[in-house]
Amino acid sequence: ISSLPTEKGWIGNSLHKYQGFWQATAHMQGVLACQKHFRALESDIILVTTPKSGTTWLMAILFALVKRAHYLDLRRHPLLTENPHVLVPCLELDVYTDKQVLPDLSSLAPPRLFSTHLPYVSLPDSVKHSGCKVVYLSRDPKDAFVSLWHFVNKLRPVGSGTMSLHEAFDKFCRGVSSFGPFWDHVLGFWNESLKRPESAFFIKFEEMKQEPALQLRRLAEFLGCPFSPEEETHGIVDGILRLCSFDNLSNLVVNKSGKLPAGMENSAFFRKGEVGDSTNYLTTEMVKKLDSITQEKLYGSGLKF
Ligand code: A3P
Repeated sequence: ISSLPTEKGWIGNSLHKYQGFWQATAHMQGVLACQKHFRALESDIILVTTPKSGTTWLMAILFALVKRAHYLDLRRHPLLTENPHVLVPCLELDVYTDKQVLPDLSSLAPPRLFSTHLPYVSLPDSVKHSGCKVVYLSRDPKDAFVSLWHFVNKLRPVGSGTMSLHEAFDKFCRGVSSFGPFWDHVLGFWNESLKRPESAFFIKFEEMKQEPALQLRRLAEFLGCPFSPEEETHGIVDGILRLCSFDNLSNLVVNKSGKLPAGMENSAFFRKGEVGDSTNYLTTEMVKKLDSITQEKLYGSGLKF
């Protein structure tokens, strides 16, 4: 690890460039252990995102969707008492934190749900070849950046001050953020979703916000668990969306005051949950710059934000 290129991270930590992407040094052991030891099953569902693209929301949606037969009574649903990050653990940050003690995942009921921020090149081989389903969630880089800047300032150690928007912006534009460059990350999975649409599903935060019911039905089809006419009559789609809505999740006691096992406050994952909030923070020049990087990087791919 020490021979990899390094940069200063956003919270005063260090980042290493590994397989073309920046990884927090503190997470490198988890990344390597996950790559080496994780064996995906055909029935697994892996949610992949860049940080702050709406991971928490999609975790909740996927859990509620694929486990719906077990939790018919939404008043007793696990999402009411557990943070989504506990129900859909992150492979490199939660499951494989320690190279020495490997987790036993064999007793988890199928379909097993995991999340990851790993770029496509760094996914464990079995995720690429087992036939498991990958759901990739992306978000307009301007909103993802502003969300990340807020999040990082909550994580910075007490006494270390806040990171200015300009400093963060400069790093983000240069691709220097955990799991960045943002655009390369998105493109890796966009291309995969075009090549193997039966295995990789690409969706945007903005699409989920605009047409949540339509997108939820598309997800259900992709995952092989479409809503039956009876479920449709009983309003299950709306029930899941309400359960996982920003208003509902962010107001639960567990998400207002709970902490994740790694120590992070659950509330840090809920801020505004809106599209376009970046316009309240970025100058016209910043918007122009980010848009032009996005255009240039995504040129010819067919992907637009
Ligand atoms: P904002 O900071 O723009 O509000 P992640 O889960 O990948 O860390 O992303 C966090 C972002 O998703 C935050 O965006 C957060 O408010 C938003 N978010 C969390 N839960 C949501 C929900 N149920 N619906 C919509 N957005 C949500």
